[in-house]
Amino acid sequence: MKPTFYITTPIFYVNGAPHIGHAYTMIAADVMARFKRLDGYDVFFLTGTDEHGQKVEKAAIDAGKTPQQFTDEVSAVFRDIAARMNVSNDAFIRTTEPRHYKASQALWENLIEAGHIYLGGYEGWYAIRDEAFYDESELTTNAQGQRVAPTGAPVEFVTEPSYFFRMSAFRDRLVDHIEANPEFIGPAARRNEVLGFLKGGLTDLSISRTSFRWGVPVPGDNAHVMYVWLDALTNYLTALGYPDDEAPDMRFWPADLHLVGKDILRFHAVIWPSLLMAAGLPLPKRVYAHGWWTIEGEKMSKSIGNVIDPRELADTFGADPLRFFLLRETSFGSDGDYSRAALVRRLNVELANDLGNLAQRTLSFVAKNAGGVMPKRGPTTEADSVIATMCSELHDIISPIIDRQDFSIALETIWVAIRAGNAYIDQQAPWTLRKIDPVRMEAVLANLLDLLRVVSTLLQPFMPDSMARMLDQLGVPPGQREFAALATPLPEGTALPPPEGVFPRFVEAA
Ligand code: MSP
Repeated sequence: MKPTFYITTPIFYVNGAPHIGHAYTMIAADVMARFKRLDGYDVFFLTGTDEHGQKVEKAAIDAGKTPQQFTDEVSAVFRDIAARMNVSNDAFIRTTEPRHYKASQALWENLIEAGHIYLGGYEGWYAIRDEAFYDESELTTNAQGQRVAPTGAPVEFVTEPSYFFRMSAFRDRLVDHIEANPEFIGPAARRNEVLGFLKGGLTDLSISRTSFRWGVPVPGDNAHVMYVWLDALTNYLTALGYPDDEAPDMRFWPADLHLVGKDILRFHAVIWPSLLMAAGLPLPKRVYAHGWWTIEGEKMSKSIGNVIDPRELADTFGADPLRFFLLRETSFGSDGDYSRAALVRRLNVELANDLGNLAQRTLSFVAKNAGGVMPKRGPTTEADSVIATMCSELHDIISPIIDRQDFSIALETIWVAIRAGNAYIDQQAPWTLRKIDPVRMEAVLANLLDLLRVVSTLLQPFMPDSMARMLDQLGVPPGQREFAALATPLPEGTALPPPEGVFPRFVEAA
């Protein structure tokens, strides 16, 4: 039986148009999912939309629509983004689905039975934009004289009856868990942040609201709807069939990885594990918080008008170069800046030049001078062994790097091999060998094709379409593209289709 791997993105609020920040989380999760599938795992990859709460209700009213109509429309846009980014999610969840009401209410009842929910009253600050409660001590006053949360979101004072989750009771267990499992929260700096936050103590959490209706009704008390984050976090269980223990997909629980943005780490690394402990369910194995993107140095915002629809970028540059850029440009845990010039540079230098040219030069040379088939391998030189060793070790080197979500380092490691391939072709000069030593020329070409096969196979998770085309040209049959097949070289004499460029240079229109 294959080992399982369950990976999730956050579910996206349907209050506005998706931007590259949303595409980023989806793409990173997709790379993980594809990598694990190619590594022989049985993968469940979940994404979806978060459709309740005041923020979404307000966006619907502003749009002159009912919340259901509005969420149907915007949810479909997120689904389209996933498809256009070539995201291979196995399921798409919407929190307005009946199965999700059932799961959220079951979790609630489970917590009630375990004695971890009590009725009280909430009196304090709430930020609709963040859908989060804040303590008075966290607030500041902005230039417009508004009281704001540390995120800059305006807050309002609310007084309402509320159910509470006895989260304070789980602080010590949570701290112990984080300390005993260093890989539970990544990157390490964020883990320390969470521990620092927990050292300050943990208060009980208000988990229901009475001032609006757009949410999952609290079982047995229709005056309340669940706090949107409680219902949202439950989505990770809903999608597997919770509360039905016998549901076949429940075998994927606990999740192997929740990928989230840094702004929502606390919900996933504090609230979610506390809820799961309270409900007697196993905790996810890892929560990783990635950084945020700015656009040409500025925060993305509707008022600045710099929000970019990732579909437009995919139309202009292709989904694969966009995927590559987002994971290559910056380290995953850090913030990054998108600029069109930086994207074009990565595309032209690393994709068109380093990789595209190496493939094009090698394949067209084989087509012209080696009969368009996989050439004969020959006796190995020192230079050949360096390349061969690099290729044979590449998967095992990048696999733990991918497990740490260090995508840019994984790509850099693959690029070291690509650059070595370019140096090798220049040093070995098959165009000279053609005249003086055709046997050696064949061996050199075979080594280059082996290298290209290995790097294209390992790059499939990052650029699935382009690498499928590259592997077609390299004559690698579809059944030989899993990582287990990396060690199986292409037989000599295999016919190769006529080569065609995979990464054209991008030239800005004058
Ligand atoms: N609905 C909640 C998540 C609930 S998960 C149980 C939510 N939604 S969101 O739509 O606001 O954000 C979804 C994801 O997009 C988050 O991981 C967030 O960090 C990410 N990003 C939003 N803006 C971003 C950037 N500018 N850059 C990178 N990621 C960004 O939070």
